Formats: sequence, structure tokens, C-alpha cells
Amino acid sequence: MTSTAESLRQRVNRALNSQKPKTITVLSCLLAVEDELGYIPQEAAEEVARFTDSTINDVWGVASFYTNFQFQPPGRHRVEVCWGPTCHVLGAMDAIGEVLKSLDLSGEGTTDDGAISLRYNTCLGACANGPVMSVDHHLIGRITPERAAQIVGELKERQTVGGPGAP
Ligand code: FES
Repeated sequence: MTSTAESLRQRVNRALNSQKPKTITVLSCLLAVEDELGYIPQEAAEEVARFTDSTINDVWGVASFYTNFQFQPPGRHRVEVCWGPTCHVLGAMDAIGEVLKSLDLSGEGTTDDGAISLRYNTCLGACANGPVMSVDHHLIGRITPERAAQIVGELKERQTVGGPGAP
């Protein structure tokens, strides 16, 4: 090994070792809670404040800055419709219109019976198959407004037939 090569390795290792250990932040805590519960309840905000030695106001300040955090318990099923640029051009808004009608919602939210939550998504990562929606994280591509309404209608039907605990 040449001294030039050794010097390069030393520099690489110095750079690697100088990295700060992963830090715990209010945001990382909120993300962990959201992953676990699907929303941020008041109790969680209090726990995050205690855990990070922050104030409740600090925690809510961070939580409210990011639009992806939810503050109400999610429905038992999660429907997402992509309205990102590609899906938008391919007709997502018509599909969203049908989904809203079918769920009797005026925008993102949860149906009155707590069965289904609707969220918009800026890219579900399957643009080539747009417009795309997902039901409980299962992607469905090339949806038409009719197909979107049918999918949601079937999901509602399963809730009615099987009751609140129905899958
Ligand atoms: S823009 Fe809709 S999946 Fe990417």
C-alpha cells in the first residue's frame, strides 16, 4: 500500500468517524408516533415534549408545520388517491371527484362511521401506471373515475356486510 493510498484511507476514516451519531429530534419522535398510531394524539405530543425536553408548543409547532401528520384517529381502511402531476394530467381529479361522492366527503378525511379515511398523495411512486390510488397500501393503477368509485363502493360494501371489524 502506498503512502498516498494510506493517506486517502485515513481521510476517509476521519470523515466517517466525524459523523455525529443519529440525533433524536421532535420531528423524528413525531414520525415514530405517526408510524405507530397513524396519528398524533395530545398524549403523544406531551410524551414527545417530555422525551425531547421541549415544550408542548414546540411539538405542536413542528407537527402542524408538516401537512402529512394527522391529528385524528385514522379510519379502519385507508384510501389514497394520487393527485401528483402525472396522475393529474392523466385524469386523477375526475377519479377523486367520484371517490369523494362515493364516500360522502368534501375533501380528505374520514367517513362518519370511521370506516374509511381518504388522503390525497402527491406521488404514490407508480406514475407510469397513473392515475393511481391505493387501498390499505395496495396500489391500483390506471384507474378511471368509474373504477375508483367501484373500488371504494366495494370497500364500503364490505364494511356494511361485515360490520365495523370487517377487513
Ligand atoms: S404522480 Fe401519481 S404516482 Fe406519481
